[in-house]
Amino acid sequence: MLSSRPYLGHGVGLRRRHYDRALRGQLDVDWVEAISENFFGEGGRPLAVLERLRADMPVALHGVSLGIGSPEAPSAEYLRRLRQLSRRIEPIWISDHLCWGHLGGVYSHELLPLPLTQAALDRVVSRVSAVQEALGRRILLENVSSYLSFECDQIPEWEFLAEISRRADCLVLLDLNNILVSAHNHGFDPDEYLGGMPAERVWQFHLARHSDRGAYRFDDHCGSVPPEVWSLYESALRRFGAVSSIVEWDEGVPPWTELRAQQREAVARAQTIVGAGPDLRSSTFAAPLTLSPASPAPSFDVSSDRFLSETQLVLWRSITTPGGSAAIFKEDPDLARDLAASIRSSVGFSNGARIDVYAQSMTWRLRGALAEIYPSLLWLLGEASFDRLAAQVIRDAPSQNPDLGRFGAGLVAVLANSRWAAADPWLVEIAQSEWAMAELLDGADPPDRPLTSDCLTDKSPAEWPEIRLQAILALRVLVSAVDLGPLWACRDRGSPAQAGLVAARGAVTGEFGSLHWRRGFAVFRRSLCAAELRALRALVAGETLAAALEAGLEGSPELQPAEVVGWLHRWLEEGLFVGLVGRKGPG
Ligand SMILES: [Fe+2]
Repeated sequence: MLSSRPYLGHGVGLRRRHYDRALRGQLDVDWVEAISENFFGEGGRPLAVLERLRADMPVALHGVSLGIGSPEAPSAEYLRRLRQLSRRIEPIWISDHLCWGHLGGVYSHELLPLPLTQAALDRVVSRVSAVQEALGRRILLENVSSYLSFECDQIPEWEFLAEISRRADCLVLLDLNNILVSAHNHGFDPDEYLGGMPAERVWQFHLARHSDRGAYRFDDHCGSVPPEVWSLYESALRRFGAVSSIVEWDEGVPPWTELRAQQREAVARAQTIVGAGPDLRSSTFAAPLTLSPASPAPSFDVSSDRFLSETQLVLWRSITTPGGSAAIFKEDPDLARDLAASIRSSVGFSNGARIDVYAQSMTWRLRGALAEIYPSLLWLLGEASFDRLAAQVIRDAPSQNPDLGRFGAGLVAVLANSRWAAADPWLVEIAQSEWAMAELLDGADPPDRPLTSDCLTDKSPAEWPEIRLQAILALRVLVSAVDLGPLWACRDRGSPAQAGLVAARGAVTGEFGSLHWRRGFAVFRRSLCAAELRALRALVAGETLAAALEAGLEGSPELQPAEVVGWLHRWLEEGLFVGLVGRKGPG
């Protein structure tokens, strides 16, 4: 039986720009919604933020990678991670989108539209039931903005969503901005959409902005909520009563006061209307689902699950073809024919142009994720070369992680085989270093109290040689062929990329190291000379201090033991070790 709808008031989507304010307990809104996959790491600032917020207010988890209608079901690993996060945060509820997004283990990180067929409806219903069972709770499904529809579509989207919610016994997150975007792009009436919703299942609204691109409207979540969306919000409040809302602002995220002003606007508009909303206990229910093909029944069986997956494959191949629709029409006549048969076209907005909206959005999103992880590489290569490298990574090492922040794991291998690395092989080492930094950011937390130099003074000098130390997990030691220190110094000073290139190209070739570690939420790195690299690696591997000293001296006979002792004190000051271990090695 459906429990009554909780009313949380009005909140915002949590974004990184406001993490520091959140840690200070200064998010003065009723509740927040967090993107689930951004918190799939083992630790770091993101999870600390979420746990801090959870102590103050309701937190909802909002996924973007469940891909409930994808040809393959959500993976057991994805559901395990979501369940784990859910146990840790205890969200007020969990939501995701009525869409699909992955195929063959590859994530597009796009919210792709589903063919609106009986087969898709059956598939989503069984998947939602399985997900709800795995999570032990109902989920909310959100309507997405879409830029294309399918020749095989059989029912309006609102009937599709409403029927899924009833059959799967799930709830609905209505994105009012998405309704307006899709209404414009497909020519339906937003009020008819609202009228088709089962009122008692509508538990949340999203408010956001979109942009007008002439032939279509695009859901970019950039800017304040426009009057048209506020107006639909008021209609929805009159129809559904008190429903919790969130303002989503994802691009060019504004200062907190500006975002909060939007939230206050939602509060003010709700206060004038909610009292006049219908009593939910006497809500009328939408009409039963009726399948009504818009065009004569095609000769194939559009209701089969196989046909559904084949249609999705056409969309997938189209949006992942390098060069977009122009390349498809020029070089792949079979795909061009399938595309024309599958995707609806309209005057001024061809099916090829519709495909390109998704292809360009996907490329832009994935390229942006790479630029965040590899800023030094972007600085050194420049925008144009970085774009070409990103295109190669998207093609040759596509995303296999539901967390967009983890896209780029395959960049190092792609770069290693590229013309850029042929000219400057140390670029690969830069990339390895940046990936290590990214992994440490939300990896296992370092200890609050790492080992200090006291651990040495507590021991008699006679005991020192046999001391072994246990390294923290938030530590990466990489070997490199050039000293990257001068290059990082150039970047930190804000020097032009050319100076960095000169610094790296002029560095002595030999054996160097780079040390990366996290302390608190901050990640640090510095370069190591060959002797320090050897000594530190020995110690991190669980060798004794005597063995580490020996490793440092090997090949560096001029090295004084006092220098190694100096390094040891520095490593301890940097917080690289967590404890002493016994004679038999770490464990
Ligand atoms: Fe939304």
